[in-house]
Amino acid sequence: MKLNIIGFTALSAVAVASPVEKRQGGGGDGPYKPGTYKTDSSLQQHTIYLPTNPPADLKLPVLVWGNGGCGADGTSTAQFLQQVASYGYIAIASGGPGQQGSTTSAMMKQSIDWVTQNAGKGAYANVDATKIMASGFSCGGVEAMDQIWDPRVKTIGVVSSGLLTNQTAAKSFKKPIVYIMGGSGDIAYANGERDYNALPAGTPAWKGNINVGHGGTLFDQNGGRFGKAGLNWLQWVFRGDEKAKAYFTSGYSADGWQVQSKSLDNLKAPL
Ligand SMILES: *[C@@H]1O[C@H](CO)[C@@H](O)[C@H](O)[C@H]1NC(C)=O
Repeated sequence: MKLNIIGFTALSAVAVASPVEKRQGGGGDGPYKPGTYKTDSSLQQHTIYLPTNPPADLKLPVLVWGNGGCGADGTSTAQFLQQVASYGYIAIASGGPGQQGSTTSAMMKQSIDWVTQNAGKGAYANVDATKIMASGFSCGGVEAMDQIWDPRVKTIGVVSSGLLTNQTAAKSFKKPIVYIMGGSGDIAYANGERDYNALPAGTPAWKGNINVGHGGTLFDQNGGRFGKAGLNWLQWVFRGDEKAKAYFTSGYSADGWQVQSKSLDNLKAPL
């Protein structure tokens, strides 16, 4: 009898254990640092990044993220995603922490579906499902572009990437889009340039290149300069942050970016 009770207790303890929050390195430098990551059984095979103790009245916009190589390790870009989370966002990478294998665009759509189902409830009470950005690195950037037709997605981020199969789709892209690229030596350079040039008149777009190659600075602390541009884009489009806006609109070429932009006046932040 006693053994049964002990056994039952141990079993319940396992059943109710909440997913452990983890982080790599410092966890970002934002006001709600550290950004940490965890998993949630309601969204299998994904990694969820959150800020620490954000104020109860702070709404958290959403970044859904596709990894390089369309790989399934949801922590492959942890430095950058923790940085984003530390500024008061929820970021969701396709694939679990350390997961092997690959992802699909459908897994990014699962993240978006999950956000629309869970925003405003329980642990996700602050999540703002009206502010979703889809972004990704390399093959993950293609997964992000695939979401541009989803009305729930407000803006797209393309990091060292360009369309691979339906190569003419960019001529129909109407949503604000940011290209964060690794320079003319990068394997994705030509495709990114082609897509940017194909965007229709009126689509707000910014493209920055720095000659750092494919992965850029994404794996540096807080995502380095790639991370800085990505975070500034979020802060501008979803929070209307003027300083973040100036990073893109002032013809900014500090940080070594070779910049092209178009129709940024059409971007009415906050989206
Ligand atoms: C590319 O084509 C696929 C298949 O038709 C489609 O699901 C996807 O949305 C397209 N991607 C873009 C960026 O248009």
